[in-house]
Formats: sequence, structure tokens, C-alpha cells
Amino acid sequence: MAGIYIHIPFCRQKCHYCNFFSLASVKNKDLFLTSLLTEIRLQKDYLEGEEIETIYFGGGTPSLLSEIEISQVFNEIQKFHRLNSKPEITLEANPDDLNKDKIKALKKTPVNRFSIGVQSFFDTDLKYLNRIHSGKEALDAVRSIQEGGFRNISIDLIYGMPTLTNNKWIQNLESFFTLNISHLSAYALTVEPKTALHVLISKKKQKPVSEERIVEQFQILMSKMAEAGYVQYEISNFCKESNFSRHNRSYWEGKKYLGLGPSAHSFNGNSRQWNIPNLSQYIIDMESLNPQSQIELLSPELKYNEYILTSLRTMWGTENDYIGQKFGSEFERHFQNRVVKHIQNGDVYKKQKNYLLSDKGKLFADGIASDLFF
Ligand SMILES: C[S@@+](CC[C@H](N)C(=O)[O-])C[C@H]1O[C@@H](n2cnc3c(N)ncnc32)[C@H](O)[C@@H]1O
Ligand code: SF4
Repeated sequence: MAGIYIHIPFCRQKCHYCNFFSLASVKNKDLFLTSLLTEIRLQKDYLEGEEIETIYFGGGTPSLLSEIEISQVFNEIQKFHRLNSKPEITLEANPDDLNKDKIKALKKTPVNRFSIGVQSFFDTDLKYLNRIHSGKEALDAVRSIQEGGFRNISIDLIYGMPTLTNNKWIQNLESFFTLNISHLSAYALTVEPKTALHVLISKKKQKPVSEERIVEQFQILMSKMAEAGYVQYEISNFCKESNFSRHNRSYWEGKKYLGLGPSAHSFNGNSRQWNIPNLSQYIIDMESLNPQSQIELLSPELKYNEYILTSLRTMWGTENDYIGQKFGSEFERHFQNRVVKHIQNGDVYKKQKNYLLSDKGKLFADGIASDLFF
């Protein structure tokens, strides 16, 4: 089983915190789509005939594509790949795109899961983030998608903004609960280098992000979600009734995936490769039938490190026996030696043969993982 990720590199406007590759103009959308169809054909053998379980339209803003464009991409994929009988096909959508007509049109596509970028239901936070939509538009968009008959929905929320008090964060979570959605992705606001937010904060034109607030709001998130019956199946992801994102889960499980579009990453078990994060160059490369992806061969050390980094963040945890079988006894011994101190200080605990982060440990997930690296 494998997955396909398609990167749609356009947005209506650039959010101040975002460093994903996207352009605030759809000027070259047609040329991009032609290139994407070429890339699907050029990369048809990358997954070596494995069945495709998930397709993920990410971005950027995939909801800027029309239903005809989405179906065109899907049909091209279907020409070259064998699809699972019940594939998960996700579209990342921005609330400002989701009007009634658009939703009706999307019903004609094979998309069966939505990930909606709400971020907050408060206009002050949305303004701080430079989102184009309002809180009311976000609520209306989710309700319209539900009325349109889509059931498999996730929303994204961001916490830690200086405009978001703990009380407002609780209200955002309560708004989420009233919507009766089975999946939430909640991210701590990260001030990425070279973003507008980074510049604004360094010039003191925008308030900085406080680590203390992030920690408090992460704790609120975990307790409110647990109270409401959601499982935290990954540090930033919560669901009810096993409505896991099958696509994201396959990344964490080390399954193969093909990434298409500028900046998209691919993984085939032995190497990782990524497309150039530049639309003009991507179009030129595809026109000359000459994709220019950078490739990194994964050494056993890198593979082990990736396994630690991803598995430790999930509710299934890191499996000791798997390390032994997959990477060998030297790696297993290394893991055993290193994990002891994290168990002693209460950041990691053992459940049968697996090692899981405690709620305290989840606050330091990246640091703990890097300490366990080879
Ligand atoms: C790259 S966006 C693409 C989806 C869509 N364009 C949108 O904005 O909703 C995917 C998600 O990543 C999260 N994200 C992106 N940059 C982030 C940052 N610097 N800090 C926290 N979350 C971030 C946001 O929650 C966003 O919904
Ligand atoms: S967060 Fe989404 S809408 Fe905003 S710039 Fe990034 S990709 Fe575009």
C-alpha cells in the first residue's frame, strides 16, 4: 500500500506564519496543471505498482482548483496506478473557497475527505495570522460541507498566538465540539525563519509568541480533547471512532509515497527525494521531460532516526522488537541504553513491548527523539 501527495502551489494571499511553498497568484495555474499531468506520467513507476490507498491534495490551497481540474488530475493518476477499492482522497480546503456552489461541484469529484484550515474562530487571531477569512466564514464553511453530505472532515486549528488567551482557546475547542467533527489537527504556532511573521516580530511590529502560552494551551488541548472522547493518536492529531488520517498514518508507518508538484517529497523505502520549490523551474523541467529532484539515500542510521522521530509521536509508540528486526541488535542496544533515563524521569513509559510518551514527555517530544537518535 502506498500514498500519493499532490502539492498545489497557489494561495489567495500568503499567511504571515507560513513557509510552505506557495505563490499568492494563480497566474500560472494552467501551465502548472499541464506540468502536473506530465509528472504523473513521468513518475508512473516510482511506486513499483503498489496499490494506492490514499491521495492527498495539499498545498498551498487545493480548493482553488475547479472540480474539473481535480477530476482531471485524479483520472490521470488512475491511468497509471492501481487504486484501493476504498481509497481515502483528501482535499485541503480554505474556508473562503467553500461556498454552496463549490461544495456541490466538489460532490462530482472523487474527494471523500476534507481538511479545512480554520486556524481560529476569532477574527483577531485570524488577523494576526493574516488569514483571508473570518471566524464566521470558517463556521459556515464547515456547516456547508456537512450539509453537502461530506462526513469525513478534519479541521486545523493553531494555538499559541499572543492574541489567543487561554479562555479563547477553550472557546475555539468548544466551537469545534459543537460542530461534531471526528478529526482535529491542532498545531502550536511556529515562527519559521524568513516568514513575514518572523520579520514583523523582529521589527517589533507584531507581538512575539510565548513558549509558556504554547505549553499551557497544549495542556488545555490534551485535557479538553480527552474529556470529549477524542484520542490523541499523534501529538498534533486527534480523532474519534478510529477516524485516523490514513494518509498521515502511512507516513508515520514508513510506507512509500509519491509526491507530485513543486516542493513535494517522495519516499520509496530507501531514499527520499524532493522537487524543486520553484514553479517556473518546475514547469520548465516538465516541459523538457527532465524532472530535477534532489535525492538523499537513507543510511540505516537515518532510517532508524526517522523511525524514532515519527513513531514516538504516535499513540502506538516505538516498538523495541521492530528496531531489532529492522535495524539490528546494535540499534536495539543503543535505544535500550538511551531510553532508560527518559523512563526514569517520567517522559516515556512502557506499554507491553512499546515505548510511549507521557503527557509530560509530549512537551519535549523533539528533544527526547533527538536524544534517542543514533
Ligand atoms: C500549509 S497549510 C495548507 C492548507 C491550507 N492552505 C490552509 O492554510 O488551511 C496546512 C496547515 O499547516 C498549519 N501550519 C502551517 N504553517 C504553520 C506554522 N508556522 N505554525 C503552525 N501551524 C502551521 C496550518 O494549520 C495549516 O492549516
Ligand atoms: S497557511 Fe495555507 S493558505 Fe496560508 S499561505 Fe500557507 S498554504 Fe497558503
